[in-house]
Amino acid sequence: MKSRTLQRVIEAVPTSDGAGVKLRRSLGQSAWARLDPFLMLDHFSTDNANDYIAGFPAHPHRGFETVTYMLDGHMRHEDHLGNVGELKSGGVQWMTAGRGIIHSEMPQQDAGRMRGFQLWINLPAAEKMKPAGYRDIQASEIPVVMLPGGARVKVIAGTLDVNGAITPGPIQGLATDPLYLDVELPAGATLTHPIKPGYNAFVYPFEGSVAVGPAHAARTLETHHAGVFADGDAVELAGGADGARLLLLAGRPLLEPIVQYGPFVMNSREEIEQAMSDYQRGALTAAHS
Ligand code: CO
Repeated sequence: MKSRTLQRVIEAVPTSDGAGVKLRRSLGQSAWARLDPFLMLDHFSTDNANDYIAGFPAHPHRGFETVTYMLDGHMRHEDHLGNVGELKSGGVQWMTAGRGIIHSEMPQQDAGRMRGFQLWINLPAAEKMKPAGYRDIQASEIPVVMLPGGARVKVIAGTLDVNGAITPGPIQGLATDPLYLDVELPAGATLTHPIKPGYNAFVYPFEGSVAVGPAHAARTLETHHAGVFADGDAVELAGGADGARLLLLAGRPLLEPIVQYGPFVMNSREEIEQAMSDYQRGALTAAHS
C-alpha cells in the first residue's frame, strides 16, 4: 500500500452566495483552489435563520453537477422542468446541469439549525451539453456502516471498501467516478480506504480534527481546512483528540481545460460566451439553440 500524504491545505474562507446565505468556501475560493474534477465545496452551518433565510432564488447552471448534502434543515428545490424536490436532514440532491438548468433552492424553515454542503463536480466535454437531470436521495437510501474501532461511514457516492468488505452508495457510474463519504471518527479511531492511483482526493473535517497520512508521518488537519492528498493508492485517517467528522472525496480527473464564469463551467471562452448569450435570450435550457 502506498499511503497518500497531505500535499496542500486550503482553509475555508467565510463568504456568502445566493441572496446572502453565509457559508465557508474551501475548494473554489480561487482558480488555484480547485481539485479536478471538483470545482467547489461550500459548507453552510448556522443556528441563526438570518444567515440562510434568503436562500438561493432562481439562478442558472451549465456544464457541471451540483451535489447538495443536508446535515440539518429543510430546503425545497424547484427547476424550470417543473421538478420539485424536498431536501431534508440527511438527504442529498444530485443535480446534473448539463446544457442548462434554472433552479432555486429555498429554506423551508424560519428558525433552527441549517447545516450542509454544496459540492460542484465538473462534467467531461462530451457531457457538458447533455439534458439536465437530477436525483433526490433520501437519508434512508444512504448506507450507514459501523466499522470495528468505532468509525461510522455514510456512503453517498462510489463504494466503501474496508479490507475488501464493500458497500456501494446510491450514486455510481459517472464519468468522474466520485467517492463521497461522510465519516465520523471518535478519538483515535481510524479509517484506511483505497483510492485509485491518479485519482484526486481530499478530506474536509467539519467537526474536530483528523490525523491524515501514514501513521509514522501523519499531519493534523483542523476543522474547516480542506486537505488535498498527494498520489498513492490509499488514504489513512485517524480521529483527533476530540474525534472528527469529515467528508472524504475522490474522483477521476478530467484533465480538460476549465473556463468558468460564475455558474457556467465550460472548456473554452467561446463556449462561455455561448452560454451567456443562450441565457440572455432565454435559450440556456432549450434542446436546440
Ligand atoms: Co444552484
